[in-house]
Amino acid sequence: MNKFISAEQVNAAAEAVRQQTKHQPTIGLVLGSGLSGLANEVEEADIIPYDQIPNWPVSTVPGHSGRLVIGKLSGQTVLVQQGRAHYYEGYSMAQITLAVRVMRALGIETVIVTNAAGGINRNFTPGDLMLISDHLNMVGMAGENPLRGPNDESAGPRFPDMTRPYDPGLRQLASQVAEDAGVALQQGVYAYVAGPSFETPAELRFLHGIGADAVGMSTVPTVIVARHAGIRVLGISTITNKAILDPDSDGVVSHEEVLETGALIIPQLTALIRGVLARL
Ligand code: HPA
Repeated sequence: MNKFISAEQVNAAAEAVRQQTKHQPTIGLVLGSGLSGLANEVEEADIIPYDQIPNWPVSTVPGHSGRLVIGKLSGQTVLVQQGRAHYYEGYSMAQITLAVRVMRALGIETVIVTNAAGGINRNFTPGDLMLISDHLNMVGMAGENPLRGPNDESAGPRFPDMTRPYDPGLRQLASQVAEDAGVALQQGVYAYVAGPSFETPAELRFLHGIGADAVGMSTVPTVIVARHAGIRVLGISTITNKAILDPDSDGVVSHEEVLETGALIIPQLTALIRGVLARL
């Protein structure tokens, strides 16, 4: 497949989704590492495995099931991306953001993205939820922005604004829902790194110094393409591990820890997302 994705490829994927569902989803939900359980609560679900959709990248990572689940959740018609492909798996930026282009083609105007992230902010503990207020696109600033390449003006502007990538109204709603539900919600800046190796202590001290509160290997390309397409975004990180900034520490970070802690936060994450959906 091409490094870049054409409008025809997006439309072919969107058409395949339309053919396989009776629903017309208005909200997209992207579930990150170990967080895919919420998709099982979708009612009247149409389930489309990724290999049934042309051009769709298939994730190779444990903890990332690969399918779309389309149906009803908390009074809304949602399209859930249960599992996603990552840049570190070898896909291009255009491939890993095809999903959000397809969501737009299907008429979706709001996307909720979740992820697992390492906690850089010293006040964060594993098990916390963090509302993403802004991001640092380390990969994009180094040249791999998902909008690099030909720009389709009908899809969005060449130079999209990124002053408020995470919708202020949705952030306020999420804060209110969290407060009402008694769910503790941190807030902060998510730094996107390519991975797959976890960060060194020096890299983490660097990210801490430039204002990152959490670090992870996903989400930001999706958010940039969503904003390009005029979709409003709510982003929520689950803090699954404490970033180790001290080079003399004997701690380690593992994908197993990320999945285990992610599983513990699911009830709060579910309550938050369901609450937001109910009040949208
Ligand atoms: N670093 C990068 N990505 C992650 C981490 C981390 O510590 N935890 C979960 N995803």
